[in-house]
Amino acid sequence: MKGVILAGGLGTRLYPLTKVTNKHLLPVYNRPMIHYPLECLTRSGIRDILIVTGGDWAGDFLKLLGSGEEFDARLYYAYQKGEGGIADALKLAEGFIGDDRMVVVLGDNIVERSIRPAVEAFAKQDQGARILVKEVQDPERFGVAEIEGDRVVGIVEKPTEPKSNLAVTGLYCYDAQVFEMIRAIRPSDRGELEITDVNNMYLEKGQLSYQALEGWWTDAGTFESLYRASTLVREGGANHDDGPGA
Ligand code: DAU
Repeated sequence: MKGVILAGGLGTRLYPLTKVTNKHLLPVYNRPMIHYPLECLTRSGIRDILIVTGGDWAGDFLKLLGSGEEFDARLYYAYQKGEGGIADALKLAEGFIGDDRMVVVLGDNIVERSIRPAVEAFAKQDQGARILVKEVQDPERFGVAEIEGDRVVGIVEKPTEPKSNLAVTGLYCYDAQVFEMIRAIRPSDRGELEITDVNNMYLEKGQLSYQALEGWWTDAGTFESLYRASTLVREGGANHDDGPGA
């Protein structure tokens, strides 16, 4: 199993904080944001990790993280031109992944608990993809999963009238078919290759499973969520292997 952290994009929602740096280098309490998704992967046993970044400060990731020894990881880097979307950034991982499986984490997603149980469940899955969902108060900000029984029946990106309050978190498990699917999708109305379209393709093939994420989860891409992320980390830390606050 390999890991991919997507840390491209322009971070326009955090302007002017992102005028002279990349969003994922901003502080979340006492550490740079990128440390959290990185530790999320290493704590679940993943060592080979590709960081996809972009913009004017890509070199700063190398200065901050180097080859990854400090994190007990082997780090690799790719550069996304422009802001073509999450699936556009993931496309750059194809050579790195080869025929392996991967856990993809969005660079602004932070979790309280280790995702090891989900990674282990995915490893036992024959093929396909696995998403992690979380109940939220403001589903219209996210990809929203509609569940019937134990099946996901649809995912809608930022719906105005959400059919549930289950957000699709930015933690995804994929097999190498994901790259064929990215080639098959087209940009959305906002001009991006959407990860939700990829997940819906797995769904149509009957190869999408899901589980609920344990512990708190937040993104950190808006002023409010960045502030919340710092507060949550300050109160109890992130990526715990055991129970909350362990
Ligand atoms: O946080 C979870 C949500 O993330 C999901 O529920 C949504 O389905 C998914 O589309 C995404 O929504 P956002 O609108 O919040 O994504 P955002 O544009 O903020 O991008 C999230 C991260 O993805 C960002 O921190 C870096 C990476 N990214 C994004 C874009 C647009 C890239 O690496 N390249 C990109 O071009």
